[in-house]
Amino acid sequence: MQSLDTENRLVDLLPEQQQWLARQFGLQGQVAAVVGGGGRIGRHLCLGLAMAGARVAVLDVDLEAARQAAAQLGQRDLSTLALPCDTTRQEQLEQALEQIEARLGPPTVLVNAAQFRSAGFYSSQPEQYPRRPWEQVLEVNLTGVFLACQVFGRRMIAQGQGAIVNISSTYGLVSPDPRVYGTSGVNSPPAYGASKAGVIQLTRYLAVHWREHGVRVNCLVPGGVYDRQDPQFVEQYQHRTPLGRMARPEEYQGAVVFLASEASSYMTGAVLVVDGGWTAW
Ligand SMILES: NC(=O)c1ccc[n+]([C@@H]2O[C@H](COP(=O)([O-])OP(=O)(O)OC[C@H]3O[C@@H](n4cnc5c(N)ncnc54)[C@H](O)[C@@H]3O)[C@@H](O)[C@H]2O)c1
Repeated sequence: MQSLDTENRLVDLLPEQQQWLARQFGLQGQVAAVVGGGGRIGRHLCLGLAMAGARVAVLDVDLEAARQAAAQLGQRDLSTLALPCDTTRQEQLEQALEQIEARLGPPTVLVNAAQFRSAGFYSSQPEQYPRRPWEQVLEVNLTGVFLACQVFGRRMIAQGQGAIVNISSTYGLVSPDPRVYGTSGVNSPPAYGASKAGVIQLTRYLAVHWREHGVRVNCLVPGGVYDRQDPQFVEQYQHRTPLGRMARPEEYQGAVVFLASEASSYMTGAVLVVDGGWTAW
């Protein structure tokens, strides 16, 4: 096996090193379901899991987005499947689970990466924030994670094996700093942080209650991804970030593979923060 060194030169790995890497981080024989896998981060997580060896089912309420994410894997001859699934609908999750089992095998990895971001999401100050988007955000970001964990978790418990990775956010740990957002119109609303804090606590709860079933449940906390946002906002976000920039979505691939793989075998109920240092000061 060849890999790149720090100066981008090809270097050879000894067979023993290859085996060590494959044992620690490889996902050969695993089947991963990624809910929200058609999203900006989700599609990169799908690719990372597939590159590590998993067969990946891309689940998304937006079937076209799921198909596009699956296509990028298919182009590399990686086993994949795109399925329509609204994570707030238990029967759709159960149908997706059946399809995955029939076509890829029993799922051993679940990643929850969906989020609600439709009309009304960014509206107004907290004292005016309307109830409707508040409920929609909680429904998708928290109830949806709970339902997916339940449906897939039941199967993992029956198998005695599983790794669940729930995606939270820095705003599940700390408040957004309104000074960073200014008049950009994309200030993260109160429902978002509340839902993401809920995901962290749900993760801990399930980790503890499923500890004897071979099911590990961990949480990944990403920081903000650059997505051609308002330039003033980007500048302020970067200034506020110790590493001096926003994330690239592929920078979360390593963390999700780590949490899904043997390398994290002694972790459950943990919160892995990958935020460029945002929460360090
Ligand atoms: N993008 C960021 O800067 C950032 C930062 C921190 C945390 N996060 C979190 O990371 C995760 C992925 O973020 P993203 O930027 O890829 O989001 P995104 O909005 O690009 O993608 C979310 C995906 O979820 C899907 N979705 C929405 N409702 C759904 C439902 N009911 N059922 C199934 N799928 C549904 C959407 O169709 C979309 O494909 C989210 O949980 C988000 O909160 C993102």
